[in-house]
Amino acid sequence: MADKEHTNPERMEKIVSLCKRRGFIYQSAELYGGLNGCWDYGPMGVEIKRNLKNYWWRKNVRERDDIVGLDGSILTHQAILTASGHVGGFSDPMIDCRTCKARFRADNLDGVECPRKPSRRPGHGPECDLTEAREFNLMFQTTVGASAEEDDPNAVAYLRPETAQSIFTQFKNVLETSRQKLPFGIAQIGKAFRNEINPRNFTFRSREFEQMEIEYFCRPEDALRLTDEWLELRLRFYEEIGIPREKLHVLDVPDDERAHYSKKTYDIEYDFPFGRQELEGVAYRTDYDLSRHQEHSGKPLEYFDEETKEKFIPHVVEPSAGCDRTALAVICEAFDEEEVTDAKGKPEVRTVMRFSPRIAPVKAAVFPLLKKNAGQVRIAREIEASLRPLMNVFYDESGAVGRRYRRQDEIGTPFCFTVDFETLGEKGPSLKDTVTVRDRDSMQQERLPIPELAAWLGERLR
Ligand code: GAP
Repeated sequence: MADKEHTNPERMEKIVSLCKRRGFIYQSAELYGGLNGCWDYGPMGVEIKRNLKNYWWRKNVRERDDIVGLDGSILTHQAILTASGHVGGFSDPMIDCRTCKARFRADNLDGVECPRKPSRRPGHGPECDLTEAREFNLMFQTTVGASAEEDDPNAVAYLRPETAQSIFTQFKNVLETSRQKLPFGIAQIGKAFRNEINPRNFTFRSREFEQMEIEYFCRPEDALRLTDEWLELRLRFYEEIGIPREKLHVLDVPDDERAHYSKKTYDIEYDFPFGRQELEGVAYRTDYDLSRHQEHSGKPLEYFDEETKEKFIPHVVEPSAGCDRTALAVICEAFDEEEVTDAKGKPEVRTVMRFSPRIAPVKAAVFPLLKKNAGQVRIAREIEASLRPLMNVFYDESGAVGRRYRRQDEIGTPFCFTVDFETLGEKGPSLKDTVTVRDRDSMQQERLPIPELAAWLGERLR
């Protein structure tokens, strides 16, 4: 729950505005007034999400021999979600206001404004007239097939509310094809959909979002230890993408607040400008899901341990992260404003996104000092072309170099290379074929030989 004392709405407003101005995140369907709870990622935002997903996949799948990947369908058979308990139970309590017709989540009215009197919470204004709370199922329902009658119950399918269920239902196939032994995991990155009653805090609570989930199957006696180990691994991941440990908090979710299937859940929380909020859950889900699918499908989902000759349903530890929430945390963490002096010695505010280089949307910018100098432009274009297959780079020749640096600072480009007169050998042979490298954070400059640029960047982006 957001702690009001630790919120900074002004900072959040600046972040939201920069996200739009510099092409990170736009409101979906903005042209038509917006689709609430849905967001489009612009040229910078899409790179951040891609870098995050690639790094998550690298750490959890590529670099491990005990986790394999899956890409399940979004449209989900109703039987799967009936077995998992989502059809009957994936709901939030909802209340309506009879006066203003607004809808609210009954269990989370903190920070929610009455539409008629924003200084008050719903129910606290003189005209508020709230209904009793009733359960609202958060799943998006659809019908499958051209011939489906609108009310044909067999044609009903759902957009998945979590990626986890296709992992459970494909457990047996993956086990057979990958020939893994316990403990092993199945990882998946993909979209999930929840018809949230009150989407809020920018992308934090959306109706369409991406999850990065692992179901790590194990013997029951190992599950609690593995839950703790996964928590540590996941905390380290956040540090590796630029979120300092002191801004991360672990909530050991109390018994009465955990999902019914979980025997232990840790929430990893981050200090967003709108308060401390969940980034990821690391949950010990027991053998609940596989047992339910075995029961409902009538097909065996047991694991046979060749050494002990035992047959049993594996237990599972689930680190479940939100890609959009992680992207938002990374953006909030990176945002900085500092006072510097411009070329004429005047103070000015520098807005800089201090992304970790491995997550930054643009890794390097390449400039000719003067756009009218054909030699500088040719070399800058050659550097750009040589780096493009390796990473996202940006070429810019317009305006003063100081202005170009500022534009890169606002999108968080860690390094800028400038081709100048020294590069052409006009200031002596020792600096020929070198460029200026400007560091985003220190604003310090050094010179590097052009043939070394790719390797120099590679070391800093790993
Ligand atoms: N499979 C377990 C599961 O889905 P969850 O705690 O409901 O657990 C896991 O969701 C993660 O997915 C959350 O920690 C969050 O990062 C992300 N998430 C959940 N609902 C979200 C929403 N409405 N908008 C954005 N991200 C969401």
